[in-house]
Amino acid sequence: MKPVSGPSLFVACLALWAATPAAAQFLDEDMEKKLHAPGPMPDRIVLTWRGDPTRSQSVTWRTDTSVAKGTAVAEVAVSEAGPKFRWKARSVPAVTTLLKTDLSEAHYHTVDFTNLTARTKYVYRVGDGTYWSEWCHFQTAAEQPEPFSFLYFGDAQLQIRSHWSRLVREAYATAPRARFAIHAGDLINSSNRDAEWGEWCQAAGWINTTVPVVPTPGNHEYTSTDDEGNAILARHWRAQFALPENGPSAIKEGVYYFDYQGVRIVSLDSNDKLEEQIPWLERVLSKNPNRWTILTFHHPVFVSTIRWNSDKRRQLWKPIIDKYRVDLVLQGHDHIYGRSPLIGGTVYVISVSGPDLRWLDKTDWMKRSGEGKQLFQVIHIDGDRLRYEARSALGELHDSFELRKQARGQPNLLIEGKAAPDSKPPEPERSVTLLPIIVLLLLMVVLVWLRVARRRAATPLGRGSA
Ligand SMILES: [Fe+2]
Repeated sequence: MKPVSGPSLFVACLALWAATPAAAQFLDEDMEKKLHAPGPMPDRIVLTWRGDPTRSQSVTWRTDTSVAKGTAVAEVAVSEAGPKFRWKARSVPAVTTLLKTDLSEAHYHTVDFTNLTARTKYVYRVGDGTYWSEWCHFQTAAEQPEPFSFLYFGDAQLQIRSHWSRLVREAYATAPRARFAIHAGDLINSSNRDAEWGEWCQAAGWINTTVPVVPTPGNHEYTSTDDEGNAILARHWRAQFALPENGPSAIKEGVYYFDYQGVRIVSLDSNDKLEEQIPWLERVLSKNPNRWTILTFHHPVFVSTIRWNSDKRRQLWKPIIDKYRVDLVLQGHDHIYGRSPLIGGTVYVISVSGPDLRWLDKTDWMKRSGEGKQLFQVIHIDGDRLRYEARSALGELHDSFELRKQARGQPNLLIEGKAAPDSKPPEPERSVTLLPIIVLLLLMVVLVWLRVARRRAATPLGRGSA
């Protein structure tokens, strides 16, 4: 192999870093204020559930403060092939809250549509009587288990509008009938930057108006602190997502569950108060009438890199996951792809949907892996079978498997499916080869810095400035 000189390697590293999404520059504040300014026309429309998906649907949206409290409203009707549904629409007043952000003051409005009929397609719009959104569709869940699909995304986080948009749109094109989309944390990078939440809404666009969002908080939703220095959840979280308030009393905003056609979906907050969530999780899993159970949280139980530590979550949560044989755990954080075989009856997945991609260096628990790819997942549940596919931003299959329920008390049967050739975990020695390269790079940076410092110290100007 041709030897590479220290300075050229250093320059190459700088060039590489500069090419990464993380190195991209923000727009200046005035431009961000213009681009993300609220107006009287509703934007950032997001469907979620606060209540039972068979009987209810929640929607939130944003306007400027000219849409005063008490004036925002949503209309909803059973959908029809023609436009006459609008004469049958009922009006539901919104609850409005003021959200002060780094860029603006805005009103966030929330409506809970209730007393809906199960297994029915509805049409709705939001506005204030003058400025209205388009009419959008949502579908209530069936009361009994029926086949359905949903989407799962790992961290979007960076370059959301420019790079994440193509991924989420490819996901929608692949599974347009998906009933909801799980976002496993780090939807954005800086928790209280309004521009990033604006980008997140722009990237998914009208998909969020028709496919309900199921978010769980990552560490980047906690990058701000209160006056005492404690990390606090993004102020946009509660304003933008109307979620079930059935979590433990001390930690409600990211901890919740809901049932959907024979599946219990549970969101945990892996950032803090892990112990406080245990009794609640035990209750939710022990009194679960559904055939399938899926957990989502941000920090993985098994990590993919030596940089992270997952011991605490493994010690505290895995025994419960094992005890109740959770079928699938959907996680983020590591910015790679990793998928386990059955571990204690459960399949664990880490995935990433945004462009900030990192390398694999600890893969002993993985059956399939991936790096350098933005991915989305489509999960289809039909009776006793769960079919899982991970696909790249091109829509190409990266990994797949099927879980089959066995007789009561027996673990699932895992049947491996097709996968991309690069989905196999790298050889173990690869992790050994990366370490010296990293050490070498760090040494070079230090050497270059020392040389520059010495030159400066040797000049008269350098001596004079000391
Ligand atoms: Fe992340």
